Amino acid sequence: MGSFIIEGRNSLEGIVDIGGSKNAALPVLASTVINGREYLLENVPDIEDVRDMLEILEIMGCTAQYDNGVALIDTRGLNTSQVPERLVKRIRSSIILMGAILQRTGNVEISYPGGCEIGLRPIDLHLKGLRKLGVEIHEKNGLLSCSVAEPTGCEIQLDYPSVGATENIMLFAVGIPGKSVIYNPAKEPEIVDLQNFLNKCGYCVNGAGTGSIVIEGKKLKNTDSVEYKIISDRIEAGTYLSAASSIKSKIYIRNIEKSHFKSIISIYEDAGCEIRETHGIIVIENKGRIRAIEKVTTQPYPGFPTDMQAQFMASMATADGITIIEETVFDSRYKHVPELQKMGANITTIGRVAVIEGVDRLYSAEVEAKDLRGGAALVIAALGAEGTTKINNVYHINRGYEKFLYKLQNLGVIITETNE
Ligand code: EPU
Repeated sequence: MGSFIIEGRNSLEGIVDIGGSKNAALPVLASTVINGREYLLENVPDIEDVRDMLEILEIMGCTAQYDNGVALIDTRGLNTSQVPERLVKRIRSSIILMGAILQRTGNVEISYPGGCEIGLRPIDLHLKGLRKLGVEIHEKNGLLSCSVAEPTGCEIQLDYPSVGATENIMLFAVGIPGKSVIYNPAKEPEIVDLQNFLNKCGYCVNGAGTGSIVIEGKKLKNTDSVEYKIISDRIEAGTYLSAASSIKSKIYIRNIEKSHFKSIISIYEDAGCEIRETHGIIVIENKGRIRAIEKVTTQPYPGFPTDMQAQFMASMATADGITIIEETVFDSRYKHVPELQKMGANITTIGRVAVIEGVDRLYSAEVEAKDLRGGAALVIAALGAEGTTKINNVYHINRGYEKFLYKLQNLGVIITETNE
């Protein structure tokens, strides 16, 4: 499962290059099956989740090559509409293959992804939207069997701006006759990226990033190959910002669109970090102990992202004062709290609220990564801790952070990975 060994009381200095966005790459990879053609995708992150998604495509008859951020995919050979259950369980976001495969073949069998480390994660909004577009869905023993006879475009009002539901509905609606409108969709930059990719393929999608997405559905005749560059990962950039805030630092973050993580930047500025942009590079300077932030609530984009909650908590564990965090997006995203407490953090949780009283310093301990972002939070905590911290189960971290160890080493962190 692997462990990180991190020597604390470091400072951070240097340049970090941000990789492609995990949460943009996964839906783009899924949507390559809608049409059998060749795709050349750039800025695809080198992470386990991407490798699993490529393996699913290969098992289903497509070909996929990956090297150094570039994926070459050929989906002409897709020969099944059954998504392999073993991999669906491993990579929850494979549920977005549902809309894409349905669009290509008219039916799909996929197992219900179920809950995970961060909560129950139902997919009722995905299913409601697809049913409205004419999909018949039967569930038996955790297997979803979906088919479609006469799909028609329609208006769909999402009860909550779910990222995955918005993507699944987009991927199915692009190819059905008529106009579909998604009201109250997710507005994340990853949704805008998916729209841009679909339009590059020849579809007609507008409005992503606003209060409604309008899709003029059509069948594509053109099967020329498609080239596309995926946006960079705002949460990866936010994680390095968070790391810089927790110890003395001066780091340069390259290859990231600043407007994609404004809400993160503004909170760390309020906490006392100096952040500026020069020639497209974001420079972060932290000269001492940062200030606590009275209250932060996680929200769908453009609010403060739930995917930064754990890392922010780790920064606030040694800030001056008391911070209150309210996690409104997921119901069980505080699994990192007991681990941070083992390192001396003073954190109390009551339901979805966490109260963090900043301590002067954290101490090393043997801790366990329980999920991706919680694992990153432990790395951040270990950077400023007294002594050497061992973080177990780092495969959770490697699922979503590209070359994390290498990038931290480049910033001067004394960190190694061991399988002992
Ligand atoms: N929800 C429902 N019903 C649904 C769908 C969602 O109740 O049908 C609830 C969820 O249970 C959750 C909330 O709505 O409480 C938000 O879920 P959403 O569907 O927006 O999230 P997701 O599509 O499952 C994506 C990211 C997550 C990120 C969330 C929120 C990908 C692959 N995953 O998940 O990323 O936290 O949006 O921004 O895009 C991560 O990167 O660490 C991660 C978990």
